[in-house]
Amino acid sequence: MISNNTMSVAYDFSNKVVLVTGGTGALGRALVNKFINSSAITISSYRDDKEAENLKSENVKVELIKMDITNEEQILKTIPTLVERFGTVNILVNVVGGYLGGKNITELGLSDWETMMNLNLKSAFLITKHVIPVMKSSGNGGKMVHISSRTGLKSEGSDSAYAASKAGLIRFVESTSQEFKEYNINVNCILPSIIDTGANRKAMPKADFSKWLSTDDLANVVLFLCSADSKVINGAAIPTYGLS
Ligand SMILES: NC(=O)c1ccc[n+]([C@@H]2O[C@H](COP(=O)([O-])OP(=O)(O)OC[C@H]3O[C@@H](n4cnc5c(N)ncnc54)[C@H](OP(=O)(O)O)[C@@H]3O)[C@@H](O)[C@H]2O)c1
Repeated sequence: MISNNTMSVAYDFSNKVVLVTGGTGALGRALVNKFINSSAITISSYRDDKEAENLKSENVKVELIKMDITNEEQILKTIPTLVERFGTVNILVNVVGGYLGGKNITELGLSDWETMMNLNLKSAFLITKHVIPVMKSSGNGGKMVHISSRTGLKSEGSDSAYAASKAGLIRFVESTSQEFKEYNINVNCILPSIIDTGANRKAMPKADFSKWLSTDDLANVVLFLCSADSKVINGAAIPTYGLS
């Protein structure tokens, strides 16, 4: 581990196999770049071919695998291929997720509800369920980080499906963290407030972007949670909204 004079920390993840789900998204990209700069063997899952091509053109070292993580069949097919190619998965950062707001409960359709539960909760369940055995059998422990949300703790209204799915993710992380601690597998999540992404700038053009979280700052927290330095942190939901 090397500290530079701006006090941010550079980790060495040499020989670690890192799977970032949703590595083609805004936060996912920042994570992929940081893991590659920290010498990790970095794999990103993707669904959209165009987004995958963009990520590859930005970072040639990223390994790309097509996998919809709400689909168990695809996970069951892909994880063994990945293990065959890379040996194991030491670190899973599950970034897949999305937001749906602006509807009160009477306006919210069943399909909206199911979309949020699938994207934010079922995805976490399926990818965790099928990566845990890989980590267990490696005998070297593992690190998992999920991305919940500040809204998982407190909702301001009109986002019940999103809030419930992200709240569920916090309890999911808590339970899973207790089930595999004897294997030295740490499972944690972070709770971002609004992240400074292109999509958010487009959706809220009049907002003060300076109050939003940078993907880089969030990625630093995730890398810490994936490092040996955080070995005593397990089952935590880390507030990452301190300055907003
Ligand atoms: N943005 C915010 O303000 C904010 C605030 C709090 C929490 N969060 C959480 O932080 C995380 C990252 O947010 P973000 O803004 O960076 O998201 P994003 O840019 O929308 O990226 C989402 C990523 O997930 C992938 N994805 C979506 N559904 C998938 C599926 N079923 N299977 C596999 N991949 C799938 C997308 O790939 P494709 O493009 O190929 O579909 C994309 O790579 C999410 O969990 C989000 O809920 C975000």
